[in-house]
Amino acid sequence: MFSRRTWMKGAAALPAAAQAQTAGKPKNIVIASANGVECCNIAMSWLRAGKDTLDAVIAGVNVNELDPHDNSVGYGGLPNEEGVVELDASVMHGPTRRAGSVAAIRGIKTPSKIAKLVMEETDHIMLVGEGALRFAKTMGYAEENLLTEKSRLAFLVWKRTLKDPNGHSNWSDGVDAPPGKSPKALLRLFPEADEKTLAWAHEMALHPPTGTINCLALNEKGEMSGCTTTSGMAWKIPGRVGDSPIIGAGLFVDQEVGAAGSTGRGEENIRVAGAHTIVENMRHGMTPQDAVMDALKRISRNYDNDLKRLDKFDINFYALRKDGVYAGGSLWSGQFRNTGFVSRQFAVNDGTGNSRLVNCPYLHERPR
Ligand code: GLY
Repeated sequence: MFSRRTWMKGAAALPAAAQAQTAGKPKNIVIASANGVECCNIAMSWLRAGKDTLDAVIAGVNVNELDPHDNSVGYGGLPNEEGVVELDASVMHGPTRRAGSVAAIRGIKTPSKIAKLVMEETDHIMLVGEGALRFAKTMGYAEENLLTEKSRLAFLVWKRTLKDPNGHSNWSDGVDAPPGKSPKALLRLFPEADEKTLAWAHEMALHPPTGTINCLALNEKGEMSGCTTTSGMAWKIPGRVGDSPIIGAGLFVDQEVGAAGSTGRGEENIRVAGAHTIVENMRHGMTPQDAVMDALKRISRNYDNDLKRLDKFDINFYALRKDGVYAGGSLWSGQFRNTGFVSRQFAVNDGTGNSRLVNCPYLHERPR
């Protein structure tokens, strides 16, 4: 059961600098999910140069979208169940109160830029699938293959280790390396791959990630924008759309109040309209931290606070108020990976130097 103690524990994990944030005048500040350290550095450099807040966050997330080693975003993202990479992204621009998004778009490395074009160049807010790709091509983008060799290997490991209740798989006749056994056994199936990559691929097959990057920015003029971009849930049914491109779930910005975004299992977020809920909570006087924890409690409540069922997924929220006070929050204290237990963190750049990772307060302590 959820108890106040669990999230207090998480709050106690906040570094002094974050706890000492006080309300005040707007300032340049960028926050992002934990994979956004460099993203925040880039976005901050754009803010310092006086660029628009939306251009800043897009420049930031482009780092992840173009990074073949970030397997949860853009190029190199893990594919759907047919081995095809499908991306979702949304943007919101505080000064104009406009938004744009694309969902299940294939063949474009930087869906955040296409979401911005939808916002700027059309009368619509969301384009999906084939229509989104055609729009991107019309706007001058070339269709590219987004599947890297590493992601293709992970896809094959997932395919070849899937079995029916009788232990049969059309992709793995005679295979004796089902999930749960040592990744070393996979070396027999994939002799060309190294052990470390196979261990990672095995982990991805067992625990399909819903990585994503969310980035929120505020400048000294009080202008705010945000972007969320992802390759979504690995091995999803083609056409599955998560929370990232849903305005009000994966992202919401109202610069008269603040901004919020999310990473993690989108299905849970959509059911509580998380980002909108957080901004509305702040509008009604909650601190960013309380606003985030309230959204997490709504998700927990959807499972009657049953920790066994909640244990099957992770979800994280990020909030930035118009005066620069920020917060992150996670459903769980961290997650087990093949490298060990990884605590939840998020990235912050407050304009005083390089971005840093800070600990996320959390709702539930994951049993170790
Ligand atoms: N939050 C990313 C997704 O669920 O697709």
